[in-house]
Amino acid sequence: MTHARQHLIQVVAHRGASEDAPEHTLAAYKKAVDDGADALECDVRLTADGHLVCVHDRRVNRTSNGRGAVSALELADLAALDFGSWKNRERARGEGPHAEGLDAEAPDWEEGPASEDTSVLTLERLLELVAENHASGRPVQLAIETKHPTRWAGQVEERLLHLLKRFGLDSPPAEGPSPVRVMSFSARSLHRVRAASPTLPTVYLMQFVSPRHRDGRLPQGVRVAGPSIRILRNHPGYVAKLKRAGHQVHVWTVNEPRDVELCVRLGVDAIITNRPRHVLSQLGRA
Ligand code: G3P
Ligand code: CA
Repeated sequence: MTHARQHLIQVVAHRGASEDAPEHTLAAYKKAVDDGADALECDVRLTADGHLVCVHDRRVNRTSNGRGAVSALELADLAALDFGSWKNRERARGEGPHAEGLDAEAPDWEEGPASEDTSVLTLERLLELVAENHASGRPVQLAIETKHPTRWAGQVEERLLHLLKRFGLDSPPAEGPSPVRVMSFSARSLHRVRAASPTLPTVYLMQFVSPRHRDGRLPQGVRVAGPSIRILRNHPGYVAKLKRAGHQVHVWTVNEPRDVELCVRLGVDAIITNRPRHVLSQLGRA
């Protein structure tokens, strides 16, 4: 597919290259970088002992060989788990998004004591990966989503900002794009982030369009809208409203070729996808 706008669209690897590799593992993020993704997406949660780890679900049951809520486990408990081999079961069952496009010959993810590539991923380690890539001339951005931040009354954001500061990533450089942005479905969480770091870009995620955002306006201070692809399918005109209100538009989770086409047609700024190599290829960039 060719399109005048396609080179402008950022391709963001959702939970890493999570179609090919177990989501939220170092393996998935390294693969996304190798595939050529412009940015990486991750969800962060607090462990019982106050570490931010990259896990989507409230519990570890689906994506590891352990059980229980992340918030009830300490980092050492999580570090003993294997976050990789569940992906073999998904593949064996022929499940998962685009299972038919997966490489049947690909080796299984090793079971048992996890290697660094498939053990629980701390946000700190992911920031190291981003910093390593920047240092070696392969800049990749990171979009960090705060999960269930209201429950923690600011602790998620506090810990997040503390880490970003340590890496010198809590505000954008004088020139060029910010290597990091923070996303959330919670306007309050984004407000906390901006209160601590006013220049850090924030993305307001939307599963549906609430009446107060129907005209394209977002919570004060938010620069970027993060609508679901379903919103665009049902209300394609919403992108123009968001743009008129001065917002960038980052859409999730875009896996179907026809949805990629829709995003191109509507002129979105970023496509968040489980399959970055397919999207890059569709955009003529791989
Ligand atoms: O990138 C936004 C998207 O990740 C939000 O949905 O459930 O995959 O975190 P979820
Ligand atoms: Ca997410």
